[in-house]
Amino acid sequence: MERTLIKDVSKSVGEEVLIKGWVDVRRDQGKMVFLDIRDVSGKVQAVVLPNHAEALVEAQKLRPEWVLAVTGKVNKRPEKNVKEGVTNGDVELEVLSIEVLNEAVTPVFDISTDGYEINEEVRLQHKTLDQRRERIQKNIRMRHRVIKYIRDYFDKENFVEVETPLLTNPTPEGSRSYIVPSRLWPKNFYALPQSPQQYKQLLMVGGFEKYFQIAKCMRDEDTRGDRQPEFTQLDMEMSFVTREDVMKINEDLLIKLVTELFPEKKIQTVPFPVFTYKEAMEKYGTDKPDIREDKEDKNLLAFCWVVDFPAFEKTGSDNVDGTGEWTFTHNPFTGVKDEFISDLREKKNIGNIISTQYDIAMNGSEIGGGGIRLHKAEDLKKVFEIMGYSEDKIQSNFGQILMALTEGAPPHGGIAWGLDRLLMILLNEPNIREVIAFPKTGEGKDLLMQAPSPAPEKTLKELKISFT
Ligand code: AMO
Repeated sequence: MERTLIKDVSKSVGEEVLIKGWVDVRRDQGKMVFLDIRDVSGKVQAVVLPNHAEALVEAQKLRPEWVLAVTGKVNKRPEKNVKEGVTNGDVELEVLSIEVLNEAVTPVFDISTDGYEINEEVRLQHKTLDQRRERIQKNIRMRHRVIKYIRDYFDKENFVEVETPLLTNPTPEGSRSYIVPSRLWPKNFYALPQSPQQYKQLLMVGGFEKYFQIAKCMRDEDTRGDRQPEFTQLDMEMSFVTREDVMKINEDLLIKLVTELFPEKKIQTVPFPVFTYKEAMEKYGTDKPDIREDKEDKNLLAFCWVVDFPAFEKTGSDNVDGTGEWTFTHNPFTGVKDEFISDLREKKNIGNIISTQYDIAMNGSEIGGGGIRLHKAEDLKKVFEIMGYSEDKIQSNFGQILMALTEGAPPHGGIAWGLDRLLMILLNEPNIREVIAFPKTGEGKDLLMQAPSPAPEKTLKELKISFT
């Protein structure tokens, strides 16, 4: 017999069906056993009656989360037992046979609740169990739908999705990079990308004009509720565009995505308000203002753009790079507004130079950032010089992008959204771990896979790595 999904059981009243799934709840009443059986599509109540003796013996052994194949007859429930508005609320499965496909140990926690009350470390250690929770299932499925929506949207707009390398050289996004030792080139390391920034710019030089990617990014930074060492961006870049062009298409996508996939949400202001960095700081004291009129309303979304950021800031004590007096505020590739290009070229009035960076905030969270880039090699080089980099360092770290910019680079710009952050807010979750299938702890640990972990001696030897 072919498997029937549980949501479809009620279409087969009077017939025999085969369902497969998990024991959700078992109520043993001695003479008969009630089972709630769950699969990906829903739940159904099954009853094992005394006249099916073999099935009854089997049913008495069952425990929550055991995996079953059950055949049964679909019966209409008596009128008084009908549960309105519940999947299969009007039917019951009279069990004819039970095959145990796999047993399960007693679950370490309850999966019928939303799970917030359970110690998070325990949830992360038993993520497979935690994922059966309705809330987590919904979050991960909505994540899929959002990503699919984005892909379809950009596909229609003639963008091409390109997978950029994960084993690469460091990309400067202001954090530390994870490094991966090379076996074939002892003492040499790959870096995992903090973002696809340089590659997407190279793709513009490569003539693709419209690129996007659902991209994994890795940053070795201290994690917080809205940060993970490994996270996902919607990354995009376009050639021959202005700042307004990039903002417009991203705004359009965000509005459509929210309207179609989250119809319960209300966007406070369309088009999204635009603040200069100066205005945002003066009015709200932050560059990611929370402009919601009603902060209690969990369905209210207040987007805003912040533009006209300073291009450079004085290096602080947390300067990863540790080179000069000045550093970039976002990333070194961001351009400067036309009226400041001569200041950049002459390396003067550095603190006053305004960049072509734009950020997008939603309900007080920075959900994306991007800019129109410096597409001329000599201008980009000036940024590195302002940062105090030596010619050697410029060539060894950025030689490839500087060279590419001399090979006919079109003007270009783009943006990246923090997809996990966006989802966290859209799904009313308190932190991004709740919208990631296999998140890491605040200390960067994967408790399920037990990563990071010491490497075996043999591997270290091959890599010529020793510890003192
Ligand atoms: P930026 O560094 O601003 O820009 O990153 C873009 C967006 O990514 C999200 N984000 C994170 N989300 C979760 N965990 C993290 N550790 C984390 N770090 C950043 C934020 C942020 O707004 N290459 C540029 C984009 C560009 O210029 O096109 C970049 O990566 O929501």
